[in-house]
Amino acid sequence: MASTETRRHGGAPVSLDVAAEMLRAGRIVAFPTETVYGLGALATDGQAVARVFEAKGRPSFNPLIVHVCDQEAARALAVFDADAEALAARFWPGPLTLVLPLREGHGLSPLVTAGLDTVGLRVPAAPIARDLLKRVGAPIAAPSANLSGRLSPTRAAHVAEGVGPRIDGWVDGGVCAVGLESTILRTQPLALLREGGVTAEEIEAVLGRPLPRDLTPGRVQAPGQLSSHYAPGLPVRLDVTEPSADAVLVGFGPVAGDLTLSASGDLREAAAALFDTLHQAELRARALGRGRIDVAPIPERGLGRAIADRLRRAAAPRP
Ligand code: TXA
Ligand code: MG
Repeated sequence: MASTETRRHGGAPVSLDVAAEMLRAGRIVAFPTETVYGLGALATDGQAVARVFEAKGRPSFNPLIVHVCDQEAARALAVFDADAEALAARFWPGPLTLVLPLREGHGLSPLVTAGLDTVGLRVPAAPIARDLLKRVGAPIAAPSANLSGRLSPTRAAHVAEGVGPRIDGWVDGGVCAVGLESTILRTQPLALLREGGVTAEEIEAVLGRPLPRDLTPGRVQAPGQLSSHYAPGLPVRLDVTEPSADAVLVGFGPVAGDLTLSASGDLREAAAALFDTLHQAELRARALGRGRIDVAPIPERGLGRAIADRLRRAAAPRP
């Protein structure tokens, strides 16, 4: 059937040059950022953006993050207040997404913003992402390059196994350095919408005041706020300190486990390893005939809060 034909593209690894050409031509291509791999489409091309939703199986009411190569490109799309200026100056390029009021004449497809009058913008730091944005010369909408509700990809192999057959290609840039999605912050009114690669403490230090949090599950403002999200294919149990015969144990610090997020208890190392370790734990559990993934306690400070947030969603009852 023609509809099956258009849905299965059988993506393959492509060079940066080819990826840029494909994106400019309206194709959808995954690429590495310092947080996770994103599934990119030209943000001005509604049909390309629609294919991203389709490939992910994502509900179309969720807006996508728009990636730009620098602050100037960001200013062409959105209006910056003093807080946004200060945060962009301090954290861009890097793992912070700012939700800002759209500027008139922005040219983005309304599908990208899900019809909202704000846009989530980010200048990524990973050299491949920056190079790609420069070559394309236009904003790229990119959600994480995973099937909706599943673990975010931090290696090209995760992309290949997940959305791979449904997209046009991907750029292999090795392992993502941060390993957690970007922090999402709205400035008007100011609120933290998703914990991520930049900690709340770092943001508060720049703003000079406490950060209201708007992470209320139920009032879904970002898919990362759905209670079950970032889920591996097996049940997950948290705060486990002892190995058990029916589970693979993911350790941290003093809890050794079958695998570990960081033997030395380093939160940055644990963040970078989180999604890949959960992928590996699932493979290991299936190979050993174990039905569950157990995870050691993670201290909820700094990056530990974003890690604990992702783990709670991985452990939440599935819809
Ligand atoms: O690190 C990241 O942020 C990765 C890489 C690829 O950049 N991207 C990512 O995208 O995690 P995604 O689509 O999985 O999550 C983007 C989040 C969504 O939860 C979406 O609802 C929120 O950003 N978002 C985007 N625009 C928004 C807006 N105008 N208002 C509120 N939330 C918005
Ligand atoms: Mg995602």
